[in-house]
Amino acid sequence: MLATPLTERFGLRHPIVQAPMGGVAGPELATAVSAAGALGMLTAGPNDEPGKVERDAARMTERFAIGTLAWRLDEEPEILDAAIAAQPIAIAISAGQIVPHAARVVEAGIPLFAQVSTADGARCAVAAGADFVVAQGTDAGGHTGAVPTLPLLEAVLPAVDVPVLAAGGIASGRGLAGVLAMGCAGAWIGTRFFASREALGDDARKQRIVEARENDTVHTRVFDIAQGLAWPAEFPGRALRDDFTARWHGHEDELPAEGYAGGHVYAGAAAGAIDDVPPAGELVERIAAEAEACLRATPASGAQTRP
Ligand SMILES: Cc1cc2nc3c(=O)[nH]c(=O)nc-3n(C[C@H](O)[C@H](O)[C@H](O)COP(=O)(O)O)c2cc1C
Repeated sequence: MLATPLTERFGLRHPIVQAPMGGVAGPELATAVSAAGALGMLTAGPNDEPGKVERDAARMTERFAIGTLAWRLDEEPEILDAAIAAQPIAIAISAGQIVPHAARVVEAGIPLFAQVSTADGARCAVAAGADFVVAQGTDAGGHTGAVPTLPLLEAVLPAVDVPVLAAGGIASGRGLAGVLAMGCAGAWIGTRFFASREALGDDARKQRIVEARENDTVHTRVFDIAQGLAWPAEFPGRALRDDFTARWHGHEDELPAEGYAGGHVYAGAAAGAIDDVPPAGELVERIAAEAEACLRATPASGAQTRP
């Protein structure tokens, strides 16, 4: 077993958090992940309202956390009321100004994860009471900042004195072992869990993740503009390239405000390492076992410590 400040705080068997994913991570996925000994999260996503949070939470039979978006809480603070009332074991706030909302989570006595994309963002989140910082690199699927995961961890790990989780680009036990070796308390994994049986979303989308290579994603605002979503401009979404991005990415000014038919797949660069759609619980066990083996064995690179 891999014990870290994350597993010890929440009594988990594995230092793995299934990331919130709008339209993808619902009660089935969170239940399967938590039942396997990791932390499953529900999502209050860009299109979700407080009632959806209540309905999802009412379906949970395992422990769960809830992931919210700062810019949605600015628009509709009742989403955070619903999340607090659902009594999750933790609440996450991502994408935007975390500070104005953090105090309410802290006052409710609920552990707070803050998903950040810079070291300054991490320092602010800790000053506002975050118990864990989630350093989300631009490699991540979905909406994300500009700094890749590795240099972001290089900046965030020495900047804060709370446990740090790594998000963005982790799809296997190799990745988990790598960030644990750097000093992280765990991995916050999205795209890999999208390609699991319990994730929402049709099989065709999951299949596109399976088929994608590591250079098949694009960091783009075109889907937000096309859908009229108020995502802050500093967080474009990482998605699989498709005909729509080929036509409009880089030509956002000409993008029509209406008539978008949907069908995009938000996914991170780790899609290149994903080649199956197993049950999520099996994935948790697989990633954890592989990470343990990696950390125990001589690294594949051949690096060895010598006296
Ligand atoms: C399809 C999809 C939807 C996402 N939606 C959200 C969301 O609603 N809220 C949020 O905080 N993060 C969201 N994310 C980002 C994840 O929380 C996480 O940072 C990311 O998936 C980690 O990188 P990875 O995909 O490489 O594992 C989403 C990611 C994906 C792939």
